Amino acid sequence: MTKKRILTGDRPTGKLHLGHYVGSLKNRVALQHDYDTFLIIADVQALTTNWENPGQLGADVMEVAKDYLSVGIDPEVTTIFVQSMVPAIAELTIFYSMFVPVNVLRHNPTIKTEAAQKGYSDMTYGFLGYPVSQAADITFCKAHLVPVGKDQVPHLELTRRIARRFNELYGQVLVEPDAMVEHLLAGLDGNTKMSKSLDNAIYLADTVDEVNRKVRTDVTDPARIHKDDAGHPEVCTVFTYHSEFNQDFKPELETSCRKGEIGCVECKKRLAERINGLLDPMRDRRAYYDEHPELVRQILLSGTDRARAVGELTLAEVKSAMKIDYFAAEEVSVK
Ligand code: TRP
Repeated sequence: MTKKRILTGDRPTGKLHLGHYVGSLKNRVALQHDYDTFLIIADVQALTTNWENPGQLGADVMEVAKDYLSVGIDPEVTTIFVQSMVPAIAELTIFYSMFVPVNVLRHNPTIKTEAAQKGYSDMTYGFLGYPVSQAADITFCKAHLVPVGKDQVPHLELTRRIARRFNELYGQVLVEPDAMVEHLLAGLDGNTKMSKSLDNAIYLADTVDEVNRKVRTDVTDPARIHKDDAGHPEVCTVFTYHSEFNQDFKPELETSCRKGEIGCVECKKRLAERINGLLDPMRDRRAYYDEHPELVRQILLSGTDRARAVGELTLAEVKSAMKIDYFAAEEVSVK
């Protein structure tokens, strides 16, 4: 039986953090043997907000690839590829854009939020339209399942709508994918989301010392001033992290925190040890890939080759369904 396909990925805008690990990377590693997984490094999408500084993209693409490999994504089973190197994605984007109404894009809540955050009074065509390009990212390989954060759900709805509309207009070619919504990890400052822009993140590439220092700054229950004050785990970020990374210790911690038996310093120390224990094997794998950048490039090239081949097949079907394959036979021989 052929496996169902997953497509998901990230914009290369810097290093990935523990929020990415808990919300998505861990899940991708767990699913990679049961699904034919495609991971997109969405460099074109990164340009939609970063078009003035393309110089950094190459290095960021490599960083994301190393993050994937360091958490245990296995390039033997998972196809990691670079968006800009799969021309079918750009071509599909153009075809889909013919029937996507501009108002649907204008009303996309994620686009609105991001535009407000970036202070865009006059959005570019590429930014407004990136959800159409994301639909091409997903449909070029006929993915069935798309694990994403909650903020991406409107984009998934658009992808489903595009697939459905395409199939109605031209015939059954595309797959309507399902979303699989991932959970968020809180930031060190207690914000509901760990994020680079909020500067409240522990990065997968952080050293032991950086993790120790960051965990020490992690916000706790403000009512606990002295070590033996009664604590309120439900308002404490450190407790949230223990629940995520140190499940076995959670019940005991909850009781001793409420009774004021364990101090925050001790509690944080145990958390930092636990996080460092999780990151250590990742650090080892990253060190290996840092020493072998050629290998990372090879992994990206061969993943991209596979994605390109899959994209050409879908594109040929799309063109044939749209009856714009006038020279299909000759095109093959010209190549
Ligand atoms: N928009 C996603 C993000 O910002 C990244 C992304 C690009 C993506 N193309 C995708 C995610 C396709 C899932 C499927 O995180």
